[in-house]
Formats: sequence, structure tokens, C-alpha cells
Amino acid sequence: MGSLRHFISLVDWAPEEIEALILDAARMKAEWKAGVRPTPLAGKTLGMIFQKPSLRTRVSFEMAMRHLGGDAIYLSPQEVGLGQRESVADVTRVLSRYVDAIMARVFAHSILEEMARYATVPVINGLSDDEHPCQALGDMLTVYEKKGRLRGLKLAFVGDGNNVATALLYICAMLGMDFAIATPPGYMLKEAVIERGRAFAARSGSRLLFTHDPAEAVREADIIYTDVWASMGQEAEAEVRRQVFPPYQVNASLVARARPDVIVMHCLPAHRGEEITDEVADGPHSVIFDQAENRLHAQKALLVRLLAG
Ligand code: CP
Ligand code: NVA
Repeated sequence: MGSLRHFISLVDWAPEEIEALILDAARMKAEWKAGVRPTPLAGKTLGMIFQKPSLRTRVSFEMAMRHLGGDAIYLSPQEVGLGQRESVADVTRVLSRYVDAIMARVFAHSILEEMARYATVPVINGLSDDEHPCQALGDMLTVYEKKGRLRGLKLAFVGDGNNVATALLYICAMLGMDFAIATPPGYMLKEAVIERGRAFAARSGSRLLFTHDPAEAVREADIIYTDVWASMGQEAEAEVRRQVFPPYQVNASLVARARPDVIVMHCLPAHRGEEITDEVADGPHSVIFDQAENRLHAQKALLVRLLAG
């Protein structure tokens, strides 16, 4: 167990390791498409615990395990009652006896940290209130495929300074991509997150911009990225946010302010007509379904890294 690694936050991994995962994912995707089907995780299992709903994360992790010769089990919010029916510590210790890795989607990020303290198998963050590292990994695979490189590109996030935006700041700052974010006042990334981003950027040479002006953020952008205005768990705030966020909609006029070859990204699920228009989501710049697909390939690389050998 000396080599036990978790994937709870991007910041726990070295930039070179993250870059290697993206390159592995690209290679494994190409192999899969060519019909090469190695099974490095034969006999291995993944337990997936959810406190929140999911389509992509659940299905892509389950299919990733099957592609690699292993198996996965889905545990619904009602079933496990993480921290309610049973303590986080006990759930984690029990699951560690049954499966070879645990993927968890939780509200409080501290639940994942608590799991890591008790787990004897790797714990993977399948989204927390604070960060969505698997999303960022798949997204960088998509950017790499579309642009042929990562370093030196500019990603502009427009919307809420949320878990997805946090993971994107980290990964861009780690990999030498410029990152700009425009949020309404009061919805910016947390100060501690910005500080961590700045520390990575100082090493990689990324330029960072934190603004409330979407037009300023998307200037010269190679990638425009958006996400829902109210995340899972923020349902009570959704109505207020619907009043605040409309100037931050990713629509055709905002896209026209970026580079002509800009790609538009969204982690999905999308609230079409709110943070993104149909015209943009279904338009020529959009890569949203490639992104969804690449969750699968990126997570295959991650699972092999954590579980093989
Ligand atoms: N992007 C993403 O994580 O989607 P799900 O919530 O459907 O898993
Ligand atoms: N920020 C969104 C992402 C969903 C994949 C949420 O947390 O609900």
C-alpha cells in the first residue's frame, strides 16, 4: 500500500503527472478507436458513491472500468446515506474491503478528505462542491485534440466561480495555459483558490485574469467555457442567480469577441437559454459532446495510473 494515491484535487499532483495523464488518454483513445482492447484492469473493481445526480460521471466511469476489463458498482445517494445512515469513516473502511478504488461525488469537499484518511484504496473525486478534477482532465484532452497543444492557449471561463471553474484554473495554471474568468461581483473564485492558481502560474508562466467583464475575459480567447449558474446543492439560490447572471450568457455576440477559431466548451448538463444559447451550444464552435466523450478516455488513463500493476 506504499504507493496509495488519491485523485481528490489536481493540486495534489505534479503538473508533469497531469500532462502525462492527458497524453496517455490521447493514446488510449486512439488505440480504442483502432480496435485495440487491452484489459489492464481485469479483475479490478470500482465502487461509485453518489450524493448528487449524474449522467456523464456515472456512465463514463462504469464504461471505463468495463473497457479496461474490470467492473464497477453504482451506489445511489439513498442507498448509502453517506454520513447519515452510516459515518463517512465506516462507509469508507467497509468499501475498501470490497473494491479496488472508490469514486465519490459529494457535497462537502471535506468528505473526500475524510475518505482519504480511512481508505486503503484510491479515492477519486467525481465532483465536490469545491472541485471537479476529472472534468478538467477530460477537458484538456479535448483542447489538446482540437488545438494540437495546450501551452500558450487562452481559456476564458464565463459564469459562476464554481467547482468546474476552480479545476480549470488549476489545470490551466499547471499546464502553462492562460486563464481568464469573468463572474458577476460576489461570484468570483475563492481567494484561497486564486492564490493556489497564482502559485502554479508563477512556475508555468500562465497569465491569469480575474474580472467581472465577460468581453474582457474572452478577448483573444482560444477557448470559451461556461457552466450552470446554480450548481447542484444551490437550488434555493437559482432564482436569484437567474436575475444576476444574464450578462454572462455565452451567446453569439460574446463568441464573436474571441478568436475566430475559438472553441466553446460546457461540462454539461446545460441550462440552454440561460448560461448558453442553443445557437452556440449547437453551433460550429461547440465541442460539448466531444468533451462529454472524453470524460471516458481521460478517466481510463487515470484508472490505469491508479490501479494497474
Ligand atoms: N459533467 C458532469 O460531471 O456531468 P454529470 O453531472 O452528468 O456527471
Ligand atoms: N457546477 C456544476 C457541474 C455539474 C457537472 C455542479 O456542480 O452542479
